[in-house]
Amino acid sequence: MKLYEVLADELMQAITSGQLRAGDRLPSVREASRSRGVSPSTVFEAYYLLEARGLIEARPRSGYFVSRAVAQHAEPEASVPEAEELHVEVSELVFQVLGLARNRAMVPLGSAFPSPTLFPLPKLALALGKAARQLDPWRTVEDLSPGSMDLRRQIGLRYLGAGCKVDAEEVVITNGAMEALNLCLEAVTRPGDLVAIESPTFYGALQALERHGLKAVEVATNPRTGMDLASLAAVLERHPVKACWLMPNFQNPLGSLMPDSAKQALVALLAEHAVPLIEDDVYGELYFGQRPRPAKAWDKAGLVLHCSSFSKALAPGFRVGWAAAGRFAREVSRRKLMSSLATPVPLQEGLSEYLQRGGYDRHLRLLRHTLIQQRQLVLRAIAKYFPAGTRVTQPEGGYFIWVEFPPQLDALELHRLALSHDISIAPGHLFSADRRFRHHVRINFGHPDNTRTAAALKTVGQIADALMR
Ligand SMILES: Cc1ncc(COP(=O)(O)O)c(C=O)c1O
Repeated sequence: MKLYEVLADELMQAITSGQLRAGDRLPSVREASRSRGVSPSTVFEAYYLLEARGLIEARPRSGYFVSRAVAQHAEPEASVPEAEELHVEVSELVFQVLGLARNRAMVPLGSAFPSPTLFPLPKLALALGKAARQLDPWRTVEDLSPGSMDLRRQIGLRYLGAGCKVDAEEVVITNGAMEALNLCLEAVTRPGDLVAIESPTFYGALQALERHGLKAVEVATNPRTGMDLASLAAVLERHPVKACWLMPNFQNPLGSLMPDSAKQALVALLAEHAVPLIEDDVYGELYFGQRPRPAKAWDKAGLVLHCSSFSKALAPGFRVGWAAAGRFAREVSRRKLMSSLATPVPLQEGLSEYLQRGGYDRHLRLLRHTLIQQRQLVLRAIAKYFPAGTRVTQPEGGYFIWVEFPPQLDALELHRLALSHDISIAPGHLFSADRRFRHHVRINFGHPDNTRTAAALKTVGQIADALMR
């Protein structure tokens, strides 16, 4: 254990044992550093970790305090799917439900995106302008798939920062992570094949399976630690799985985070069965404690196809993503050429310019801090307004909370009634091929419009109460 982890653990014990109570002020960083004989940065790291776990919160110009009443929620149950081969047909429902929620007047608790106001748009505009003015005309030819070498190198550097060595040659630039995931899926499966997925999973994964005529087998998933590996091993023994699609870091919709040891075991298990892993890591940079490593960090066989993008953390709307596709990189690049030739060259060069200038990490620190505060606000509002017996996740990254209401609540009905109050929520029905999550919803906490958000959560709580009566 590192020093800051020891300190964080001690404080956690003090909080859970009641020695430190909700609202108590923690020693200032200077006091704690002096009294414990550790550096101020060790104390900061420990406080950040506790903040990421939702145990303490920073108050501007006052210091750190023990959080009020967020730990009182029980966690949702781990899922127990049937582990049968499922035909996937979710798109119609996804379009119906989410198509209605795009207008600005809506309180976007059901949105898949954080607030567009949280991004460094003026700085991106400067970088984009410079890149466009100085664009070497030959780049429009040279940056065809696999994409701009400058940008691929910058992405390679970010992998290094995440504890994962990826050669820029392996990276293929795509139109967002969604294209990367689709191309990877195409590269490792044929129509009719079976793909193992988490339960619940991102509806975009279900839509991709549906589009490619693939079947799904859903695997038991824990809301805090992700896919259950014993269940996955049993599925691999019993079914002819051709690929596995997972979000080990801050899963959508659960927010779960697989521990490093589980990621390592996952990669080894899949390598034993020669099954490629499509790793969706779009939320990996939005951690509240430490940058979690991608599962790809343990890949020796070139079987992990790691996909991500700048859509969630830096530049939504730019639609720039990538795949580091291991031994399938050439195949993925060819498929990208066949489907759309390239990702817009000025955008690739503009992002590369922004990343080279620096400032991305500063932006990320601010963004994470905002998200941590929003998570606390939303958890507190849920504790106050949602019916007794509601269970919630307390994610350590990303911007989704998964809510499990008591079983008599119908989440589609809740969604319909919330819409009539201009509030969107994402009903659990969207997140599984067999629509098993009927009394669950996903709540987005990435929109810092606090009075509107708290009022909307109060309304959702009142509707839920009425529906359960
Ligand atoms: C888990 C997950 N993967 C992939 C995507 C798509 O990312 P992009 O917008 O870069 O295509 C999303 C967007 O909602 C997502 O939540």
